Amino acid sequence: MKSSFSKLLVLAFMIAVLAACGSTNNEGTDSNASEGGDKKVLKMATSADFPPFESRDTKGNFEGFDIDLANLIADELGYELEIEDMKFDGLVGALQSNRVDMVLAGMSADEKRKKNVDFSTEYHRSGEMFLTKPDSAIKDLEALKGKVVGVQLGTIQEEGADALSEEYGFEVKKVDNAGILIQEINSNRIDVAYMDKEVATGYMEKQGLIGFDDPTTSSPGMAVAFPKGSELVEDVNGVLEELEASGKIQELRDKWELAE
Ligand code: ARG
Repeated sequence: MKSSFSKLLVLAFMIAVLAACGSTNNEGTDSNASEGGDKKVLKMATSADFPPFESRDTKGNFEGFDIDLANLIADELGYELEIEDMKFDGLVGALQSNRVDMVLAGMSADEKRKKNVDFSTEYHRSGEMFLTKPDSAIKDLEALKGKVVGVQLGTIQEEGADALSEEYGFEVKKVDNAGILIQEINSNRIDVAYMDKEVATGYMEKQGLIGFDDPTTSSPGMAVAFPKGSELVEDVNGVLEELEASGKIQELRDKWELAE
């Protein structure tokens, strides 16, 4: 009795696996948003090193504003969401090669990226900050002379820091992961981290760091990114409009304590 039940379980499991393979294995279409199974799969990539937009909880599950937003979008459009974590620097390439259908990663819709990917309407706006240790004497751009400023590879902050470094005479250190920037500050391997203001504010509170705003930038807002020409852009824009009108996006801003 017991063993036939477990055989049944194994059989059920195998059927489930086969069904899952069938639904994602949809070759011949240029989109990963396949329609094979009950629910179409929407493949999203992110770089889960950027709280409160995307990170992982203690169990390793994705969490954050972008994750909740992506789930709402997938729900509205009738997709099952699949999330892949990668380096921020690899996200645009993953879209260009159609390995994923969309990216939510606190990604700013800047003009350079628009040559390679399409963006939705903007869903959030932030700024830039310089983050440093509480006992640091660095309180403005002038004080950065001769210092080491850390940035995350592939971000608009990397580009911004490269440009500012000449004028203010600092060295730029580039790392893969935004979380590593905080470790680098705490272990004195960099003097300052240059990063998104919303994310920096969180680290100031959690890690007791201090910081000052970058007065030079007005970075573009964050948006969902897609492969060029993706049909999803219009659908997602429609959903974003709906979610904004119904107050659901505001609920998420409140939940993740975003400014505005
Ligand atoms: N907003 C900046 C950019 O688009 C930084 C984004 C970094 N995101 C991340 N998940 N690490 O370049």
